[in-house]
Amino acid sequence: MENVFVFDHPLIQHKISLMRDKNTTTKEFRELVSEVSMLMAYEVTRDLPLEEIEIETPVAKAKTRVLAGKKLALIPILRAGLGMVDGMLNLLPMAKVGHIGLYRDPKTLEPVEYYCKLPEDATERDVVILDPMLATGGSASAAVTFLKQKGITNIRFMCLIAAPEGIERLHRDHPDVPIFCAAKDQKLNDHAYIVPGLGDAGDRLFGTR
Ligand code: PRP
Ligand code: URA
Repeated sequence: MENVFVFDHPLIQHKISLMRDKNTTTKEFRELVSEVSMLMAYEVTRDLPLEEIEIETPVAKAKTRVLAGKKLALIPILRAGLGMVDGMLNLLPMAKVGHIGLYRDPKTLEPVEYYCKLPEDATERDVVILDPMLATGGSASAAVTFLKQKGITNIRFMCLIAAPEGIERLHRDHPDVPIFCAAKDQKLNDHAYIVPGLGDAGDRLFGTR
């Protein structure tokens, strides 16, 4: 399928395996989410445009390249997306951060929006939506729809673990949005949890269960 990038870098795979382990502590889990996010930031930003500038090194004048034009906004989906922000900001300190609050209704499994605060100039930025889990794809798709309604056009979606069902749904609803993930898992179970997955990402990040 087009527009889906699964990162098979050994460091990323190693850390994802540690995250999956149910014996990994909240502290370790949080650190791993942050580390994997930082490693993924490197690839997610691979196609950012560059422009040439002239600078002076201690030795000579030089033409050299820096990031051009539009800047980035990181938009974590609350709560679990929060765990990915610090790692991304380590590599992208110039990015602004917006927040979208969505939770999955446990009965309908449909996303419910409860919060939104975006950078003022979000429409002029390249946006990366952050959420560790792409399960049914309902939350991701709703977040993209919401951002598009606000006039944001350049959107990519970054998660740690994706189910085939979520990839298909997000791709069907928003074929223009590239999906970046560290692992594509087998399927969803009857409760729409990813199998084998890593459990409830929000609970594991914040120690709420
Ligand atoms: C999780 C996860 C995603 C969503 C994915 O959040 O962080 O946002 O589920 O599921 P979907 O693809 O089927 O929509 P959850 O609703 O558990 O909220 P939380 O982050 O507050 O724990
Ligand atoms: N949300 C999670 O946190 N984990 C899943 O497996 C599915 C949705």
